[in-house]
Amino acid sequence: MTLDTLIESLGFAVRPYPLPARLLGTAYALVPAEHRTPRLEPSGAAVPLLALTASQDPETALRRLAARAAQLRLGGETYGIGAAASADAAAHDARHDALERRTPPATARRLTAWSDTVRSPLHPAWDVRLDCHLYGDGRDGLAPWVGAVLRRNDREIRAFGCDTTVRGAIGRALDGVLTLAAEDRWSAPGKDPEFVGEVEGVPEGEWDEPVGAEMRTVHSGAGGTVVQCRLPGVAPRQEPVGRFAPVDLSLGCDPERVRISRTFHENSKIRSAFRTLPPVDVDRLTPDTRRALTRPYRDYGRTRTEQPWPVEGARPLLPLDTAVRHRRSAAPMSRAPMQLADLARVLELSVGVTGIARAPDGVELPLRATPSAGGLCSYDLFVLARNVEGLAPGVHYVHPGRRVLQLVDGERPFEDMAAHTGYSGRVAEAAAVVVFVAAFRRGRWKYGERGYRMALIECGHVAQSVVTAAAALGLVAHPLAGFVDDYFDRLVGVNGTDDAVVHLTLLGEARA
Ligand SMILES: Cc1cc2nc3c(=O)[nH]c(=O)nc-3n(C[C@H](O)[C@H](O)[C@H](O)COP(=O)(O)O)c2cc1C
Repeated sequence: MTLDTLIESLGFAVRPYPLPARLLGTAYALVPAEHRTPRLEPSGAAVPLLALTASQDPETALRRLAARAAQLRLGGETYGIGAAASADAAAHDARHDALERRTPPATARRLTAWSDTVRSPLHPAWDVRLDCHLYGDGRDGLAPWVGAVLRRNDREIRAFGCDTTVRGAIGRALDGVLTLAAEDRWSAPGKDPEFVGEVEGVPEGEWDEPVGAEMRTVHSGAGGTVVQCRLPGVAPRQEPVGRFAPVDLSLGCDPERVRISRTFHENSKIRSAFRTLPPVDVDRLTPDTRRALTRPYRDYGRTRTEQPWPVEGARPLLPLDTAVRHRRSAAPMSRAPMQLADLARVLELSVGVTGIARAPDGVELPLRATPSAGGLCSYDLFVLARNVEGLAPGVHYVHPGRRVLQLVDGERPFEDMAAHTGYSGRVAEAAAVVVFVAAFRRGRWKYGERGYRMALIECGHVAQSVVTAAAALGLVAHPLAGFVDDYFDRLVGVNGTDDAVVHLTLLGEARA
């Protein structure tokens, strides 16, 4: 990308900017030079976002970013600016940038069926309206000028585009919409021009470049050319300030390698332009639905052996302060058996039912020792017992509602399971392993994409409760995320999609 060099020679740097999946294109952020490469920034300091450009064509997005870089470096807000590898392309961009700065005429014609010719930058499933209209018809000697308006509920985004062809002008206007949508810069409805007719499709033809424009080449060298263009009577464009680029805390990790998680995060954000809360009113659910929410458990009770959790007999708990300060994941474990009463205490203090919320219609929602998003409990726990006195070796489901452990599989050798972690020696020392299953389906009807975050966060909450309770009993608790997913999913009988094993914690007696 030679334009990278141009941007760097202007004293800035480029960062890729992840777009939500509803926006089809590529976006780049202009940042100060010291943020050139994603690098470790222990302070977590924000990266100022100096400009953002987006387009369906990556090269165009970068060209526009280079122009913004040049404008920031050179000042002169009344000039149109173009930056490109070739002088001709830079002059073309500069002229049209200048044209787009004019105040639009009061009349325009609606463009219908434009999307048969020009690709929309919006995912077809996104429930929004995107209209284009055409100012002027070229007879006044001006290049075609298109306004694009994106509407959603009572908010909108407007952008203009000028080019020597109508098709090009639509493309530029749509790039403008894409850029503003990438930043979520929605505003209250603006004033439409007076519509004086309709044009079906995209008119052909090429118009002359504007006459009387004052052009000057302000940079020509490494990476490309920068051209300024001034048209009389053009007001400066106001750019918003105080924006920030994504901070990258990875140790120089290539953003492509974490593209999916970046896109996921983008798509699961709550944005002020949309509803700030998920569109579900739990109070308006039917009593049957609400009753179903009060049983966020699996249940193997009819087919499997059950072992009640003893409520007494656990050793005394250490003070929280002592437990937290002395806890260490890698502390040595003894081969001594763990007591079922101690395991039960750990479960009671992590997933145990500790209260009841009552709805006005009498439906009762059990509440747990650990918080859960919306009380939906998007997780399940299993215990793999190897050496727990009072509990059969095997895979047990933890049923908090009935305070029982249900034997799901008593055949699988513990060593086989240990071999499917990255730490077979360490796992073989454990008396038991707690398996955390994220039950994605329990929360996604309410939270959508954000439900995935909720399930992982909840598993983290519960896992911490397990660690803290175990530490308070003087046990060793060692979290492990290094395991073979498919093996563990099969082991506990989940499909890995609707429900998936996401975490393990080894439990064992501490070695004296
Ligand atoms: C989410 C998570 C995943 C972890 N995965 C592993 C793992 O796969 N292997 C391992 O040896 N330790 C794992 N650990 C333990 C960490 O290495 C340990 O917490 C860290 O070294 C700090 O030590 P401490 O827990 O004694 O304070 C994990 C911890 C967490 C919270």
